Amino acid sequence: MRPAGAMLAGRTALARNEPHIMTTASTGASATSDAILELRHVSKSFGGVHALQDISFRLDAGQVLGLVGDNGAGKSTLIKIITGYHQPDGGELLFGGKPVTDLTVPKARALGVETVYQERALADQQSLWRNIFMGRPITRAGGFLDVREMRRVTKQLMRESMGFTSAILTPDTPVTGLSGGERQGLAIVRALHFEADLIILDEPTMGLSLSETEKCLNFVRDIKAAGKSAIFIDHNIFHVHSVSDQIVIIDRGSVAGSFPTKQYSQEELTAIMREVAATGRYTEPDRELNSGGVL
Ligand SMILES: Nc1ncnc2c1ncn2[C@@H]1O[C@H](COP(=O)(O)OP(=O)(O)OP(=O)(O)O)[C@@H](O)[C@H]1O
Ligand SMILES: [Mg+2]
Repeated sequence: MRPAGAMLAGRTALARNEPHIMTTASTGASATSDAILELRHVSKSFGGVHALQDISFRLDAGQVLGLVGDNGAGKSTLIKIITGYHQPDGGELLFGGKPVTDLTVPKARALGVETVYQERALADQQSLWRNIFMGRPITRAGGFLDVREMRRVTKQLMRESMGFTSAILTPDTPVTGLSGGERQGLAIVRALHFEADLIILDEPTMGLSLSETEKCLNFVRDIKAAGKSAIFIDHNIFHVHSVSDQIVIIDRGSVAGSFPTKQYSQEELTAIMREVAATGRYTEPDRELNSGGVL
């Protein structure tokens, strides 16, 4: 397991562009060991709609957090706050134990956060190698693009990380030629290649076939195997259960419960989700609700 603060390690070159990072002394907040990401009492409203209210949880390094909840529960809004797309109205975000304010999309990226969406993840008409290196090309002296090297690295990633063995697929194949599952794989491998510490997947299995879904879930397992963290959003509790270490249920903008995955069967979690959907909360009947990552 990596030490707290590892998320920022090796990124000192970006320090000038990094969001304002307050020391714990300046805020009075205490850093939490091993938490790669921590949310404390985060809220967000859109006009009169309270999309998120008092959201708190933490994610440790090398762990996968499954985020579940009904349509409109606030999952994507939460992700957009973590990725700097939206600013929260209240509460705190801590990366590697350090409070971060004024987060923007480029700043979140500089902190090692990558997002993989079902749509919009890739440029369809472009080749595999261009998609891998989009926005972050390998260059030679003089600033010239090193196309040969980018093709070589892409070929290696295809073989070793994506498991693409088909001779038809080459680094020059346009992304349109890939299945949905292969696209997810490409997006995840790209994030891992650029050393993202936290990879966020917002409904990556949407629209995928059974075998593609299994492939996508395997890529999420690869993230964990690589020692990185992930937040995995999916409506299917069976998917979430099979890849996560901790499951957080969001209901109508609030955390309804947090569950260490190993301690709950898929059936138990399905029943809990039904209860939450009906009542807005969950009461543990005969065992103490393990607060897991919820503060
Ligand atoms: N930009 C916005 N402007 C106004 N309201 C918004 C905006 N984004 C989200 N909302 C509202 O906030 C609430 C939470 O939406 P969000 O998209 O986060 O839900 P979700 O859990 O991702 O749902 P789904 O499972 O359908 O993707 C909803 O009531 C939604 O209408
Ligand atoms: Mg959503």
